[in-house]
Amino acid sequence: MKILVTGAEGQLARSLVERSQFHPAVELVAIGRPDLDLAVPGAAAAAIRSVQPQIVINAAAYTAVDKAEDEPDLAFRINAEAAGEVAEAAAAVGAAVIQVSTDYVFDGSREGPYDEAAPTAPLGVYGRSKLEGEQRVRAANPRHAIVRTAWVYSPFGSNFVKTMMNAARTRDLLTVVDDQIGSPTSALDLAEGLLRMIAIWAEDRDRGLGATYHLGGAGQTSWCGLAQAIMAECAKRSLPAAEVHPIATSDWPTRAKRPANSVLNSGKFVRTFGFEMPAWRDSVAVVVSRLAEPER
Ligand SMILES: NC(=O)c1ccc[n+]([C@@H]2O[C@H](COP(=O)([O-])OP(=O)(O)OC[C@H]3O[C@@H](n4cnc5c(N)ncnc54)[C@H](OP(=O)(O)O)[C@@H]3O)[C@@H](O)[C@H]2O)c1
Repeated sequence: MKILVTGAEGQLARSLVERSQFHPAVELVAIGRPDLDLAVPGAAAAAIRSVQPQIVINAAAYTAVDKAEDEPDLAFRINAEAAGEVAEAAAAVGAAVIQVSTDYVFDGSREGPYDEAAPTAPLGVYGRSKLEGEQRVRAANPRHAIVRTAWVYSPFGSNFVKTMMNAARTRDLLTVVDDQIGSPTSALDLAEGLLRMIAIWAEDRDRGLGATYHLGGAGQTSWCGLAQAIMAECAKRSLPAAEVHPIATSDWPTRAKRPANSVLNSGKFVRTFGFEMPAWRDSVAVVVSRLAEPER
């Protein structure tokens, strides 16, 4: 099974490359900038035609949530138009497409976890651009899966876990927002979930295609709770660990507004593909351990 992944240097793409070693039936080709720049119309189609994959995972995205407020055209170009082009080009070679999307399609006003049928109402440019990406993918390729995830961290790239661990090297006290809750997700777990979904498609052609799924770390916490868990894991390993105090969103103004609650209910993915994400805290421990290792 040949899989083309966009955004080769991103957290998810690098996690897919790593996890694909445990899926021998998979041949994974990851392409990123400058070889595949989604800002260039037609670039995705050329790459897909040349690789001739059975599945395309669109892991590339404009992910700078605050900067997107000032660069809406670029955010929509990458997250909406290019996502549609990827899906259309996949359809043209007979490939299914997995479009990775976000909890930021929701406004956060709901009590309790969001399921796939919950109404979308993004609060900012990033969420709006990703939502339009979902719509374009659905329209361009019936053999799609939209997989919304949240609060992604990994041993790769920039992410909240790395930021907290770095901050603890120079500060004894960190203040972190406690009134936004969500589903912290290890990109390694997300990658494993996507590869299991693809393995199911190989056995039972197209099971669950043409649908939207949520796939986030099991359980929920706030950014402050996540930071405290990271620090607890650091302390266990005698790494620098800071005290973490809660603050309100109003004490930490950001350019883009974030949903107060974006906890994802991943039950539909479990029911359809039989894969359950680990508890978020266990995956934080795995990634802190990886980040504690000297760079290889
Ligand atoms: N990170 C999160 O917290 C989060 C939460 C919910 C959903 N998601 C979604 O999950 C998916 C994977 O996210 P991630 O955390 O792996 O993101 P990431 O680490 O920020 O990686 C995104 C990748 O997209 C690439 N990219 C950006 N503009 C591009 C362009 N014009 N052409 C080609 N590639 C381009 C970047 O390339 P360069 O390396 O060249 O910059 C980067 O490698 C995305 O769809 C994202 O929207 C992420």
